[in-house]
Amino acid sequence: MDVRYPDSCDRVLLDPQALRARVAELGSEIQADYRGKDLRLVTVLKGGLYFLADLARCIDLPLSMDFMAVSPYTAGMGGAVRVTKDLTDDIGGASVLLVEDVVDTGLTVNYVMSLLRAHGPAQLDVCALLDKPARRIAEVPITYRGFTMPDRFLVGYGLDLDGRYRNLPGIASLRDEAVLS
Ligand code: IMP
Ligand code: MG
Repeated sequence: MDVRYPDSCDRVLLDPQALRARVAELGSEIQADYRGKDLRLVTVLKGGLYFLADLARCIDLPLSMDFMAVSPYTAGMGGAVRVTKDLTDDIGGASVLLVEDVVDTGLTVNYVMSLLRAHGPAQLDVCALLDKPARRIAEVPITYRGFTMPDRFLVGYGLDLDGRYRNLPGIASLRDEAVLS
């Protein structure tokens, strides 16, 4: 294990080189698909931070970036999340690409998509770095998918456990004891 990773990590599943290569491929696909469109990358803070920054630099098109932040409600809220930071730009008529770190149950992206749709974009698609299909509850249409991952708790490259580990250079799985404690 690379010295940068804490003992609570058991394996590095995606190293920086693998992330860089895949993000570049996604960027090329997006670049080909959005030529001539009013492309807006929208990310949900804070997990999508590094992915957005790297992806945007792999897309050689005019584009803008905007941010939302949500805090998940506890179980029983039907997947509704509370918006703690809303968009600053008007996305009406624009081609919006929602850039997400990970789709797990799908509830967050599903809800955020319904909020974005209410602003009347011309097009709304999802680009998710990680897809963890094992615990999916809400079907989410993922147009651009970085990696399909096992049902493990992952940290690094933006992903956190209680706010920590976001700055790890790659994506690692946490030991079960570390997630539960
Ligand atoms: P959802 O279950 O698809 O709604 O996922 C919602 C959010 O849970 C994601 O945007 C992440 O912030 C967080 N999340 C899900 N899986 C992981 C993980 O493996 N590590 C860190 N955060 C995660
Ligand atoms: Mg998130």
